[in-house]
Amino acid sequence: MQMPDGIPAEIDLSRPSAARVYDYFLGGAHNFEIDRQLAEQIASMTPNLAATMRAGREFLRRAVRVLLDAGIDQFLDIGSGIPTVGNVHEVAQTANPKARVVYVDIDPVAVAHSRELLAGNDLTGVIQADLRDPERILTEARKLGLLDFDRPLGILLAGVVHFVPDADRPGDILATLRAAAAPGSHLVISHSTYEDQPQEMLDAQRLSARTDTEITLRSWAEITGYFGDWTILEPGVVHMELWRPDSPSDVDANPERFGAFGGVARYDQPAG
Ligand SMILES: C[S@@+](CC[C@H](N)C(=O)[O-])C[C@H]1O[C@@H](n2cnc3c(N)ncnc32)[C@H](O)[C@@H]1O
Repeated sequence: MQMPDGIPAEIDLSRPSAARVYDYFLGGAHNFEIDRQLAEQIASMTPNLAATMRAGREFLRRAVRVLLDAGIDQFLDIGSGIPTVGNVHEVAQTANPKARVVYVDIDPVAVAHSRELLAGNDLTGVIQADLRDPERILTEARKLGLLDFDRPLGILLAGVVHFVPDADRPGDILATLRAAAAPGSHLVISHSTYEDQPQEMLDAQRLSARTDTEITLRSWAEITGYFGDWTILEPGVVHMELWRPDSPSDVDANPERFGAFGGVARYDQPAG
């Protein structure tokens, strides 16, 4: 098959990809017919979904700003997706031109487009890796030489941990990532949930099995557990829209309709 420009030849275009479906929902241009078909099918079942994805992106933007205000100037963004408007490095480098960002994604299309977009930006890097192999992510990130793991780091896991099934022990993965971070580091997580959700949302989740990565919805308690013993910042782990909205008028009348919890925690140096 003739591959579109910039797309690595090894990409399987016969299956939809979660990253490209997500890109389509966000209004991006990095998706193919197979992705659009699945996106439309999901959207017809859950008219909320495009708004949900935008809400996820907005949560990430607000969280990154809070980290920047806390002095974080380096970010490891895992499951970063296809670059669309308002990428982490854009938000971060607007506030601090010296901010460094390493993007990690499993999807070769997301990685190819990220490399294209970031060419010439010396303070950013891209790694193709699987969150289920956190040691490799850490090794590759260290090799890039952009992040200093002895200084506070922002670890971003927005809309990605739900792609890790229980069998791959997401709790252990999170523990590995937290253990690599210096005191003062922050962890940002947003994660889909079945709590407070209507049946249509749960049905759409079943469709995600048709992409390379199936979603596992989890409880508030499970998602909160991913922060380990780090200090969870106010207002806690909440429906994403309720996490420090820019303005109260931004909050939907039913913030739970987006079906995902978000939270941010800080690694405080243990006393003694
Ligand atoms: C819903 S998008 C989220 C994008 C971005 N973090 C955001 O919040 O706007 C999820 C991304 O996670 C990636 N992903 C899924 N499973 C992954 C894994 N095991 N390791 C790394 N990335 C993964 C997908 O390729 C996709 O780009």
